[in-house]
Amino acid sequence: MQHQETDPLQPSDRSSVTFRTMRLEDIPDVMVIEHESFSLPWTEQAFKSEMTLNHFARYLMMDVNGTPAGYAGMWTVVDEAHITNIAVRTAYRGRKLGERLLSELLDQAQALGLERATLEVRVSNRVARNLYTKMGFREVGIRKGYYSDNNEDAVIMWIDLHEHPWAAGDTEGSV
Ligand SMILES: CC(C)(COP(=O)(O)OP(=O)(O)OC[C@H]1O[C@@H](n2cnc3c(N)ncnc32)[C@H](O)[C@@H]1OP(=O)(O)O)[C@@H](O)C(=O)NCCC(=O)NCCS
Repeated sequence: MQHQETDPLQPSDRSSVTFRTMRLEDIPDVMVIEHESFSLPWTEQAFKSEMTLNHFARYLMMDVNGTPAGYAGMWTVVDEAHITNIAVRTAYRGRKLGERLLSELLDQAQALGLERATLEVRVSNRVARNLYTKMGFREVGIRKGYYSDNNEDAVIMWIDLHEHPWAAGDTEGSV
């Protein structure tokens, strides 16, 4: 029988998905995903400051079979969650992992007693806008020229956390 090689970056149906709080040791992995994902990536120092100095910030790592595959973060501002970033490693996209990650973040925001969540997204980022709309976010306005690299507008989106329209996010499971 021929031996079959498996790609360690390729999630399979038996992959296990887990969520945990981001740690300083995660920053090198976060940097890889950040640079794959954004034209204006945050710096290592920015993530370090978020984790050590910003008491209102919460960052989540998503592991697939123990390997960091994505992360998401938010600031808790009075009774609101301001989502700062969400990214899935390129090799893991299109397998509902972004959905799982956002569900987990919204579950955590709701468990903290927050009332609503908001985020900004590039007008051109159709994939992310589809994801947010699917999860129950509504587009409520535009911030003109919000992104400094190309002066692109941001769409402002909100979700009411009481409505809980997003899929129940498992803290563990398989893809
Ligand atoms: C946005 C992102 C997190 C989505 O993660 P993902 O794991 O690929 O997405 P999922 O597989 O969970 O898809 C969930 C939904 O997103 C939308 N979506 C995902 N891939 C899509 C694509 N190629 N085209 C259009 N919509 C897409 C769909 O609504 C999809 O639901 P459906 O499969 O039922 O149609 C990921 O693409 C990413 O990291 N992008 C780069 C960083 C980024 O843009 N972050 C958002 C900044 S505001």
